[in-house]
Amino acid sequence: MTNPVAIIEVTNVTKSIVSGARRVDILRGIDFHVPRGQYVAIMGPSGSGKSTLLGLLAGLDSPTTGSIVLDGEEITGLGEDELALLRGRKIGFVFQSYHLIPTLTAEENVLLPAELAGNGHVRDARGRACELLEAVGLLDRRTHYPVQLSGGEQQRVALARAFMVRPPILLADEPTGNLDSANGHQVLELLLTLNRQQGTTLLLVTHDQELAANADRRLILRDGRIVSDET
Ligand SMILES: Nc1ncnc2c1ncn2[C@@H]1O[C@H](COP(=O)(O)OP(=O)(O)OP(=O)(O)O)[C@@H](O)[C@H]1O
Ligand SMILES: [Mg+2]
Repeated sequence: MTNPVAIIEVTNVTKSIVSGARRVDILRGIDFHVPRGQYVAIMGPSGSGKSTLLGLLAGLDSPTTGSIVLDGEEITGLGEDELALLRGRKIGFVFQSYHLIPTLTAEENVLLPAELAGNGHVRDARGRACELLEAVGLLDRRTHYPVQLSGGEQQRVALARAFMVRPPILLADEPTGNLDSANGHQVLELLLTLNRQQGTTLLLVTHDQELAANADRRLILRDGRIVSDET
């Protein structure tokens, strides 16, 4: 049964990796539903499977068993092309390292998801890219290349890029992990403000207790299982 209010439905997901004679069980049966618009903090010790789970939700990798339904669409079993389209329409990501394209300017990096999705007119897309760059305080830096920007500035460009196509789901994996606390704080404030403005469903992996305390819900992983799910 699909749940009409859940935008993310994860059912009995496992992920095992076999290398040589060894099998590593990274996720050992994950079940949870996320209602639309919820802000979920995902916590747990290093190696507990947080990034693996986010990668599966993003369709960057497929689970060994189980089902993942995003916005009513089963993503397990989709081919590469279908997954790429789905990502373009439904998912924004922010990673610990910024993953900007070095040969593109800040503005071109922000525009990229719209170009990949192939939707909308380029002029509308440029307007939106400029609005987002303004929201992250970098409009005057739009013609600069990533190498000309600080770490915090690059992560703010990555945030603007993540919101470019108004994704209903935003996945963020320790987005401030490489920043000092002042820059990290600014990036998080922006992330949460944009998230509220756009009504995005947010899954944020973090080690920060204070941040997690402000989330609508905290999921804690340990050894590939959810050991606590608290709202
Ligand atoms: N491709 C792989 N091959 C073998 N083991 C892997 C692979 N990817 C991840 N793992 C293992 O799976 C476990 C979970 O990794 P994952 O990156 O999801 O943890 P995490 O919770 O994000 O940790 P951290 O807080 O350090 O980022 C780790 O023990 C890791 O070594
Ligand atoms: Mg991780």
